[in-house]
Amino acid sequence: MPILLDALDSFSLVAWIDADAVIVDDSRDLASELRWRRDLYLVEHVFVSTGYVPPKESRTANTGLMMLRSGDWARRFLQAVWEQEDLIDHHWWENAAAMRLLGYRIDPPPANHEQRTAWLRRVHFLDVAWNSMPDYQASPTPRIVHFGGLPLDERLERMTDALRAGSSVSRPPSRVRAVSQGGAAGQTTEDIQQRVDELGWWYHHFELPSGVWTGTGEPPAYDPIERWNLFEPNLPDDLEGKSVLDVGGNSGYFSLRMKQRGAGRCLMVEPVVEFVDQATFVFEQFGVDVDVVCEDVHAWCLTTDERFDYVLFLGLFYHLKYPVLVLDRLAEMTKELMVFNSHIQGVPPQAPGADESAPSGLGKLRRSVAKTLGSGQTAEAVEVADADRDELWSASYPRMSFLEGAYRGDLSNWWVPNYEALEPLVRSAGLKVLSRPHPEMVVAEPQRYFGTARYGELVFPRYGKAEGGPVFPGEQRLFVEQVKKT
Ligand SMILES: C[S@@+](CC[C@H](N)C(=O)[O-])C[C@H]1O[C@@H](n2cnc3c(N)ncnc32)[C@H](O)[C@@H]1O
Repeated sequence: MPILLDALDSFSLVAWIDADAVIVDDSRDLASELRWRRDLYLVEHVFVSTGYVPPKESRTANTGLMMLRSGDWARRFLQAVWEQEDLIDHHWWENAAAMRLLGYRIDPPPANHEQRTAWLRRVHFLDVAWNSMPDYQASPTPRIVHFGGLPLDERLERMTDALRAGSSVSRPPSRVRAVSQGGAAGQTTEDIQQRVDELGWWYHHFELPSGVWTGTGEPPAYDPIERWNLFEPNLPDDLEGKSVLDVGGNSGYFSLRMKQRGAGRCLMVEPVVEFVDQATFVFEQFGVDVDVVCEDVHAWCLTTDERFDYVLFLGLFYHLKYPVLVLDRLAEMTKELMVFNSHIQGVPPQAPGADESAPSGLGKLRRSVAKTLGSGQTAEAVEVADADRDELWSASYPRMSFLEGAYRGDLSNWWVPNYEALEPLVRSAGLKVLSRPHPEMVVAEPQRYFGTARYGELVFPRYGKAEGGPVFPGEQRLFVEQVKKT
């Protein structure tokens, strides 16, 4: 522990690997597992312990491989581990101390997880490949193999065997990039296809440099180039040095395209772990650096001050329980341009929002907003006509439908605006509408900053649907059955 504490002073990331573990596949950088607001990374082993009648499930958090992000939290955690002197003689010593802090029952065996402690909030559990234990829980594709609890001779022999077997599959580190060769160096098309398949169901269907396509493209999956082509004409030819935020980025197609256009820092926010893994793989294949934050956009944008030149808010609005709050916050974060796209209700009208044929009162209101903002005045100065009760009933009044249950079989949707609502929503967030390349898309630039307010440490409600389905905020697992029905 003192060595790790020391190392935290000199390095932003510190990884510990037990001496009885060997690296058998170094093609992926452990640092690529970094998640937003997670400071400790390790594997939790889940296996059935057969020494009991009936056999019992056992869970252990294994510190044989752990990565720590340097900071106060990591220091406090290591210190707290070190201070549990009553465990000095426990056969797992510091591992036992770490487990106890994280809410595991250590004794009597088998160990198991019993309570969520505050420490656990900063932990990200890695795939078992990072600490594969052949006698307990082995990974089919291990990166690190760990031989705990064996007599020394046997341990050395098995470590040597694992190293020999591993070196035949070992690939160059993923940071060695070879875009021109069609993917990470050393990978064959078969390797890449296999990895694409392992990464599960893909929403974005596009071609990787190797010629392999992601997923099948069967709806609701789609080829995102269609969406890209809609707003791409609004971007400068060269985005050199521009920062980009891509919320609900999925497997990263739009972040990738922005990087390929020369963008500097690019950050993608995506709470679904499976999509984060896909995006990480895509960025590796194309050899681009994109920071990926695995978090819900509400929690992320309410706790972040950073601003970005370009903000991509695509296909996410209607998935949010508090969509306007997020739109407002993202508008504040936008320095140059926001591309906003949302599913909308029904079949959109052909005419633009401020059509002349709308009923008189409503038409007046909408024409007034469109005309005044169009003439370059600020939203503050707009004199919005008063609406009366009957106008709210009108089919073409801006509105959003709230979805308590599923929508087209998908539980991850909450609000669907109509065609007329998109532009007023964007304007009310302080943005000026520049174009509407598609009924579901608005391109806008900042017009007015409303500023932000701080209330200590905000507390955010978790929410979900009665029938199950996604619950935010926090990392999520893909709810495939529902998504695929969309
Ligand atoms: C319909 S897809 C759109 C993906 C991509 N932006 C596009 O336009 O193709 C919605 C994405 O938003 C993500 N998402 C859903 N709820 C979210 C939330 N609360 N915060 C951030 N992302 C979310 C989903 O996991 C999914 O990747």
